[in-house]
Amino acid sequence: MAPTTANVAEETKVASIKTLTGSELNSVPSEYTYVKYPNDQADASDPEHSIPTIDFAQLTSSSPELRSKAIEELGRACQEWGFFQVINHGVPENLMKSMIDVCHKFFDLPEVEKKEFQSRKLLEPIKCGTSFNVAIDKVRLWRDFLKVIAHPEFHLLHKPADYSEVSLEFSKQTRQVATELLSGISESLGLEAEYIAKAMNWDRGLQILAANYYPACPQPDQAIGIPPHTDHGLVTLLIQNDMGGLEVQHNGKWVLVNCAPGAFVVNIGDQMQILTNDKYKSVWHRAVVNNRATRISIAVPHGPALDTAALPIPELLGGEAPKYIGMSYEEFMELQASPAAYMMPCLDHLRVKAE
Ligand code: OGA
Ligand code: NI
Repeated sequence: MAPTTANVAEETKVASIKTLTGSELNSVPSEYTYVKYPNDQADASDPEHSIPTIDFAQLTSSSPELRSKAIEELGRACQEWGFFQVINHGVPENLMKSMIDVCHKFFDLPEVEKKEFQSRKLLEPIKCGTSFNVAIDKVRLWRDFLKVIAHPEFHLLHKPADYSEVSLEFSKQTRQVATELLSGISESLGLEAEYIAKAMNWDRGLQILAANYYPACPQPDQAIGIPPHTDHGLVTLLIQNDMGGLEVQHNGKWVLVNCAPGAFVVNIGDQMQILTNDKYKSVWHRAVVNNRATRISIAVPHGPALDTAALPIPELLGGEAPKYIGMSYEEFMELQASPAAYMMPCLDHLRVKAE
């Protein structure tokens, strides 16, 4: 949709959430008011509710028994939760911390310095902003974001000074973990390890470093960091500072993700749900806010090549009809960012209609 003069003007008026919360603020301004239903809250005391853990050292072990046990656990986690934490992945904890620090420094830059990166283009290599899409958002989100494309081409961001060096190393190491997980997921489905990577042109696949900044909110029940959504890609890996806030939908309830220090939180995305004809679900999740301290998370979605369309894998159908039609990953992402996705979840646009 072409931007109209009116909504561009509207957009430039919007302060970042950083600026908004920089002044004394005792309540949530009306344009940010988002009320969850009373029975729609996560219950922190529910003991059953914690996402599965996958031990990466076992997944990549040279012992066939350990490896096949880890692959089986991975398959179960994908099927039952669509979310899991990965431990022993080998990415140094200080690299993860440095990545969070450089993103924090970016958000702390004076607003004028961030302005050059504001853009409306979906696949702008480097882009920052607030909310999701201020031109179409019905409620403003309590977050600022910075999205930098790291693969197939790595993009340099020259401020803060150490961002590029840290993000290059972090994106490479994170991608290696994602590649191993993709092989394990392929095998958990009974396919050869490289099957999904080959089918999705993973060597040209998209990787985005998507940092989220959620400042403390005076009335956390009245606002939302990111409302319920699914991720568009194949797998997303996420890290956070020491503040929680990610909630996952499981058996009709919201579950707060508690992850081990230094672990990656991983979730299945829409393209994987399409490939597996709904066996592995792209699970709804959201980010809630708190009134104590700033939360920073870095979500790293990994997807197919932009020109590649996911379709249900014939070997997995076992006599079932394919449930989805194909759409290139780029078009899918455009759809997800458009007003059409507010009316109907993106995957439903691609679902084969019942006769
Ligand atoms: C996302 C996301 C959750 C979080 O960026 O897609 O779901 O905890 N983030 O920040
Ligand atoms: Ni998400």
